Amino acid sequence: ASQIVFKNPNEPPLVFHWLPIIGSTITYGMDPPAFFRENRAKFGDVFTFVLLGKKTTVAVGPSGNDFILNGKLKDVNAEEIYTVLTTPVFGRDVVYDCPNAKLMEQKKFMKIALTTEAFRSYVPIISSEVQSYFKKDADFKGKSGVVDIPLKMAEITIFTASHALQGSAVRRKFDTSLAALYHDLDMGFTPINFMLHWAPLPWNRKRDHAQRTVAKIYMDTIKERRAEGDSNKELDMMKHLMNSSYKDGTPVPDHEVAHMLIALLMAGQHSSSSTGSWIMLRLAQNPHILEELYEEQVKALGADLPPLAYEDLAKLPLNQAVVKETLRLHAPIHSIMRAVKQPMAVPGTKYVIPTSHTLLSAPGVSATDPLYFPNPDMWDPHRWEPNAVNAPTIVQSSADEEKIDYGYGLVSKGAASPYLPFGAGRHRCIGEHFANVQLQTIVAEVVRLFKVSNVDGGNTLIGTDYASLFSRPLEPAKIRWERRD
Ligand code: HEM
Repeated sequence: ASQIVFKNPNEPPLVFHWLPIIGSTITYGMDPPAFFRENRAKFGDVFTFVLLGKKTTVAVGPSGNDFILNGKLKDVNAEEIYTVLTTPVFGRDVVYDCPNAKLMEQKKFMKIALTTEAFRSYVPIISSEVQSYFKKDADFKGKSGVVDIPLKMAEITIFTASHALQGSAVRRKFDTSLAALYHDLDMGFTPINFMLHWAPLPWNRKRDHAQRTVAKIYMDTIKERRAEGDSNKELDMMKHLMNSSYKDGTPVPDHEVAHMLIALLMAGQHSSSSTGSWIMLRLAQNPHILEELYEEQVKALGADLPPLAYEDLAKLPLNQAVVKETLRLHAPIHSIMRAVKQPMAVPGTKYVIPTSHTLLSAPGVSATDPLYFPNPDMWDPHRWEPNAVNAPTIVQSSADEEKIDYGYGLVSKGAASPYLPFGAGRHRCIGEHFANVQLQTIVAEVVRLFKVSNVDGGNTLIGTDYASLFSRPLEPAKIRWERRD
């Protein structure tokens, strides 16, 4: 039972709820995409609901995406929302525990480190991590078997990302202390901690201990590397950050380098490992696509399948499309929040959003809208080929091509796109290219080794778990694998 309650004619319609405070928290939290779809059908692209006592205004569709993600610094604010959650996990003085201008500089350091030369060095690192993982892991002994894929993808993601971004010395520590410490850090990264971040609960104590210990391990490694001088030829993020300086000439302090490295690994870990798991589940559901991927590599690279190089990834368009299409349907970040700093008029409507509201952007809504993606619920990597049956109907306006620099390099000025898995504007992802290279390399290596299918041989798909901060497959999410040779 729902009804529209108008408190102020200039505020968007409010989703009906029975309980104050709780509001729509439960229905939203169980399945955010379904919640957005239902209320959009009822109210249109802009509506408000009560999330943990806070009026939260959703604006969807390309213009809603643009309205929130391209909001001006004087109007919208990310750190006020996220800092309670991220600062205990990452540490002080980075990302959301500093003014936005400092974050922009930090993002610039991160982005500059990710050069073509660096990516050339990362692909062989990622390939060899994947190969040795499948050689050693006990669940991949023999010719075939069944595995819970998210557990495996979580390990493969953290081994590949830590080795490429933090160097081999740090990577070795993931075989001993670091894996368990990151597990403890992770416990601070749950939606319940938006409320309980401060509480002296056992998992928060573990989180705080893990943060201090991981930061110390990084700071000690930085000291060792400084002592080694220039002898280390690796092109990892730690090396770059420890040699960076802010615009005013201050070198980035070691504790900030350490905290940025934690932030980068956490940001990449959940999003990439969830996406990697969904790719494997989609391939298990569509084994013919996996065979097409194998054929694509044989055709483009030769039947002997030489070691993968960075340049090879561009020769594998279907491999790229598998990542792109999976992010369309399974973007790990379903809700992006901003505090409202000034009353904001929503263009094309009579609505004015007051400062008492939080804004919520959900680019996944337009990414699954039949207006832009024919047969939107169908996982069809071929839709990204020219003239495909299900090709997106997006007409890129010239405004979308315009670029702007928020302080960390040029990004698209317009955010009025229906497909934004990496966000847009000032807070846009700087890890997009890394994530693509990482995921494309992992998929290409898996395809060389295995065929996968659903355990029951059918084409069902597991549901989505929205209970953690990043959406991911409900576990257990098992697939059958079979060695190719
Ligand atoms: C920001 C998605 C991988 C680092 C973002 C945002 C999204 C996103 C949607 C915008 C958040 C907001 O506006 O509040 C993804 C997805 C990934 C991925 C889907 C993988 C499939 C990575 C990786 C890294 C990374 C691998 C690091 C190497 C960052 C950073 C920000 C960001 C530093 C900026 C946060 C800010 O400015 O507030 N990402 N990301 N991401 N991401 Fe990613």
